[in-house]
Amino acid sequence: YACLSSIFLLCSFPSVWAQGSSSLHYPDGHPSRHSLEKSFGGSMNDSQCQHMLKHLHNGAKITVQMPPIVEGCLFSSSPFSCCSCEVRPGPEFLTRSYRFDPNNTFTAQQFYYEDNHCTRPAYTLLIHGRLRLRQASWIIHGATEAEYHLHQVQIVCHTASVAKELSQKLNRSCTAAVRGPWEPNVLYKLSSEEGSYDCSKELNFAMHELQLLRVEKHYLHHNLDHLVEELFLGDIHTDPSQRLYYKPSSYQTPLQNAKNHDHGCIACRIIYRSDELHPPVLPPRADQTVGLYGQWVSQRCEMRPEVLFLTRHFIFHDNNHTWEGYYYHYSDPLCKHPIFTLYARGRYSRGLHSTRVPGGTDFVFKVNHMTVTPMDTPTTSLLNIFKDNECGQPGSWQIEVEQDVTLTNGCMALGIRLPHTEYELFRMEQDVHGRYLLYNGQRPSDGSSPDRPEKRATSYQMPLVRCSSSSQRSERRDGAASGSLLHRPDGSGWQSGCSAPLLALTVTAGLLSWWT
Ligand SMILES: *[C@@H]1O[C@H](CO)[C@@H](O)[C@H](O)[C@H]1NC(C)=O
Ligand SMILES: *[C@@H]1O[C@H](CO)[C@@H](O)[C@H](O)[C@H]1NC(C)=O
Ligand SMILES: *[C@@H]1O[C@H](CO)[C@@H](O)[C@H](O)[C@H]1NC(C)=O
Ligand SMILES: *[C@@H]1O[C@H](CO)[C@@H](O)[C@H](O)[C@H]1NC(C)=O
Repeated sequence: YACLSSIFLLCSFPSVWAQGSSSLHYPDGHPSRHSLEKSFGGSMNDSQCQHMLKHLHNGAKITVQMPPIVEGCLFSSSPFSCCSCEVRPGPEFLTRSYRFDPNNTFTAQQFYYEDNHCTRPAYTLLIHGRLRLRQASWIIHGATEAEYHLHQVQIVCHTASVAKELSQKLNRSCTAAVRGPWEPNVLYKLSSEEGSYDCSKELNFAMHELQLLRVEKHYLHHNLDHLVEELFLGDIHTDPSQRLYYKPSSYQTPLQNAKNHDHGCIACRIIYRSDELHPPVLPPRADQTVGLYGQWVSQRCEMRPEVLFLTRHFIFHDNNHTWEGYYYHYSDPLCKHPIFTLYARGRYSRGLHSTRVPGGTDFVFKVNHMTVTPMDTPTTSLLNIFKDNECGQPGSWQIEVEQDVTLTNGCMALGIRLPHTEYELFRMEQDVHGRYLLYNGQRPSDGSSPDRPEKRATSYQMPLVRCSSSSQRSERRDGAASGSLLHRPDGSGWQSGCSAPLLALTVTAGLLSWWT
């Protein structure tokens, strides 16, 4: 019952939409073709990949609602992803359906599954509470902080064996919630309204994701009939033992508003029609074999914990198991203001199917070559401050000029050391349009890197999309401004002004997580 009554709720509310920062950066809305051609070595049309990234930086019309109006019925589903089955660290497989009412109360349903395609429901949590928006976050640009209070958490198990297992587990640790063995398909309270007990913690449950919010609206695939509204909620710590204590510093996969979801989305319909006694059962799919060849790009501006925004472009050469990666870093959540670009390359090797994460495949990545291109004045100055021999040629950095930092074993100022090895987890899916999506492991929430097999991820980042099945990139010209995917248009000036040095420092502090 959580969703069905609220589908048109959002229509009746006045929306105060602030246009995203695109108009700040490009007075005419678009960078000049000339500057883009320069940065692409004069061949703008040679690659679908660059076209897609360019669209992302310059063409994607996203509006951000500040302060956000969080209302209506939202559920796990993203136009950038193909399946609504989410993977949380652990791993846990779930779908979510959240309803926000105008009186600031919410009802959240979290459906948990036994399998990685969300076809076998295990149990559902039904959460009632109240949400209060606070202020714009001044740590995370574009986010709003909020407070929540839970009225009640209930559980319903969907099979007899899950009911038995969970009631036995809670009987040992939290007797208040268990008065006799549980039956399947019956709702039980995990916490009391008056607060005398709360057994939801025994299931490692917290709603801290409601402490950080962002609402984005955009037209999908340039289609003016297809407005998508997404609610980003705070991220979940990658170490499950930290989950109850972690305050979000990034987002998880967004929820989509039911009001304007894609009507061709079967999973959406299934989730929308479900309730706690009839959990969504998604259509079965086979695990896709991970084929890394070709080129892959980000579909949206991505965010890392510690306030770093970026887009990625990977090229995998499966003939000799080498790879190349471009990481375009930005200071803002719409990826309009570039701060620096990294280019890295190295080798990779494929491992076995993951034993911890069903559907995942293990990989090992090595980086042994890297270049850095500072893209704004503060980052350039920052690199020049370091006079020791630990990031390229000391004192020689210039804006938009790429330098090789391989000989200095990386760049200490950016927290990058070479050579470097990472233990990766990958998964591949095909979306409804037949495009291939590539998910790689979530970065550890503590900012460290997965440099040991035990630190390998158990959940994923936002997926990249395959933009070319060829690994031939036409124009990487060493020394040229290959880092300059996004040039400033002539005469548009630079807007970051006085806040910029702080930004650069934040970036340095957070940069341990720059990788993949
Ligand atoms: C790029 O476009 C130009 C004209 O717009 C055309 O002459 C050229 O062949 C195109 N190049 C590629 C690689 O498609
Ligand atoms: C808030 O609104 C919902 C839906 O209209 C209603 O079911 C609920 O009782 C209301 N809660 C309070 C505390 O007013
Ligand atoms: C809890 O478990 C104990 C033994 O393991 C059993 O005697 C008791 O009846 C159980 N209590 C409930 C409420 O299930
Ligand atoms: C691997 O193959 C790619 C494409 O075939 C080539 O460009 C690259 O130089 C090769 N790398 C090494 C280290 O052999």
